[in-house]
Amino acid sequence: MHDFLVIANWKLGGNLDLLSRYKQFFQKVTLSGDLVFLLPTPYLGFWQEGISGASLGAQHLDAYTSGGYTGCVSAEMLQAVGCQYVCLGHSERRCHFQEGDDLIARKYVLAKSYGLVPVLCIGESREARDTRLTESVLRQQIEAVVSRDGFQSLPKHTMVVAYEPVWAIGAKEAASIADVEKVSAFVQSLLAEYGQSARFCYGGSVDADNCLALRRSAFVSGVLVGRASTDYVHFKSIVDRCLVVSN
Ligand code: PGA
Repeated sequence: MHDFLVIANWKLGGNLDLLSRYKQFFQKVTLSGDLVFLLPTPYLGFWQEGISGASLGAQHLDAYTSGGYTGCVSAEMLQAVGCQYVCLGHSERRCHFQEGDDLIARKYVLAKSYGLVPVLCIGESREARDTRLTESVLRQQIEAVVSRDGFQSLPKHTMVVAYEPVWAIGAKEAASIADVEKVSAFVQSLLAEYGQSARFCYGGSVDADNCLALRRSAFVSGVLVGRASTDYVHFKSIVDRCLVVSN
């Protein structure tokens, strides 16, 4: 059984002042689980000695390792600035930057081979949900990774899978607990077919009100928090509720 995981995804938001406020606050508290900050790339180097009890992660990784690829970010660079995690397959990357399953799978294997923990995001569109295609979309997104050449030769590991239904991201309401639990059971049984298992996280409009029910669910091992993670007061209360902060 893994500790509960809270992942802050700043997206194209936050600033260095926010990072230092979190650094100051989390110095004073003890966390009962794992906290990860997925910072925008330019801020990664400002993590330095970091936040006690928390880990650094990147929101983006390119599939190249070196050479003439202006603007790209390599796994080695992420490792050099202290990243332990990297977010892959986020629907905003899939949608705005045309990242497909094959590219995401390549990045997954690359990240692992550099010792990074990929947070593999999966999720169906509203249209897929309305036409009852959720499971087939998720199956395709997961199988692209686990059946990829190279995946099977990676050391055995527990995957971190974040279920983020596209229709719940940046929305007013999160998916219902019943839906999340159903998807969790589906994902675990699919992964079992490949001899794998996951720390199953949920993302999509997680806030201080709905995080407790997710925290209490036996089917959910973590949450991925977007907008609320750049709101200092709001995010502190999510961490407080999910990771039982003690002074
Ligand atoms: P949201 O974003 O919490 O703002 O809905 C979640 C995500 O995209 O990771």
